[in-house]
Amino acid sequence: MNPTSAILPISIIGVGSYSPDQMLTNADLEKKVDTSDEWIASRTGIRQRHIAGADETTSSMGAKAARCALEKAGVQPSEVDLIIVATCTPDMPFPATACWIQKELGSAGAAAFDLTAACSGFMYALSVGEQFVKTGAAKTALVIGAEKISTVLDWTDRNTCVLFGDGAGAVVLRHISGQPGIRSTVLGADGRHTDILHLSCGSNDAPSHHPPKPGEPVFMHMSGREVFKVAVVGMHKAATEALERSGLTLEQISCIIPHQANIRIIEAIADRMKIGTDRFFINVQNHGNTSAASIPVALDEAISQGRVKKGDSILFVAFGGGLTWASSVITL
Ligand SMILES: CC(C)(COP(=O)(O)OP(=O)(O)OC[C@H]1O[C@@H](n2cnc3c(N)ncnc32)[C@H](O)[C@@H]1OP(=O)(O)O)[C@@H](O)C(=O)NCCC(=O)NCCS
Repeated sequence: MNPTSAILPISIIGVGSYSPDQMLTNADLEKKVDTSDEWIASRTGIRQRHIAGADETTSSMGAKAARCALEKAGVQPSEVDLIIVATCTPDMPFPATACWIQKELGSAGAAAFDLTAACSGFMYALSVGEQFVKTGAAKTALVIGAEKISTVLDWTDRNTCVLFGDGAGAVVLRHISGQPGIRSTVLGADGRHTDILHLSCGSNDAPSHHPPKPGEPVFMHMSGREVFKVAVVGMHKAATEALERSGLTLEQISCIIPHQANIRIIEAIADRMKIGTDRFFINVQNHGNTSAASIPVALDEAISQGRVKKGDSILFVAFGGGLTWASSVITL
């Protein structure tokens, strides 16, 4: 990378995603825990989720999504000078998942690091990548959201295991003269809510975080109802602010792509925005919550289904453990 002081608008020039072949339906889950398709579908909108195979890792899925994004952008891996991976399920604490992906792609020399903001992670990474490229410190950034959440789920806990899925999504960022690209971003967090959604690794746990004993598996913990309430308020506030800062009106937004956690959260936000859910792209029914992968996977599907096209303005909005939230307005 080559630090300079340019301030340039940054565009998404390629989008890709990868979802594992292995599918877990609500009917499959009925055989694992005391739940039902009716409960899951009515409470969350989820019908099925993709689950990584034993030979798949966060980095292998991330690399597949990245390769797809690079191909669509017409960019060679050797041209990438920055790789940021948003994940809360890295292959290992270090080397960073970004380094494994860099190796897989053949982008040696590019700066590479991971970033964690749970389910808001991709939006945080997008903003960090934007800062590098808009100042000229990087020319071509690869921003990836990738998760193998299935490895941190307690498959006997019906409160959490029915909600999540695995996958990866990626975008390529560059300055393109004359294109507005990323128009505005709002990031935030409220650490007072660290207790209601967390994944303890046991290294530095507060007692309230149920640290696992040595040798015990590491699982995600969540107070669903509390997360729901904070998520709706935080996402609505972030989306409203991002829209205001973008200088666009809601009518000028072609599509809203929210973090795909739960259909009821999306409906509650639509309600607060006084618009129908038809303004939102929703694929939670097929993927469940894929955490940091959720928004780039949804963006890729929205493009391939013709729901958004070049020139369209999109409002992204996410929330996650932390609690964190993020929203951005982007013109493709
Ligand atoms: C998790 C969530 C779907 C639960 O829905 P809810 O309507 O709040 O349900 P409750 O937690 O009040 O539980 C109601 C009952 O369903 C039960 N239940 C929980 N999970 C169940 C499941 N998979 N199948 C059947 N019953 C289930 C509970 O045990 C409870 O039973 P009880 O009344 O006998 O105690 C909802 O709170 C939610 O979407 N929260 C946000 C979660 C989220 O998005 N997390 C990710 C953030 S990035």
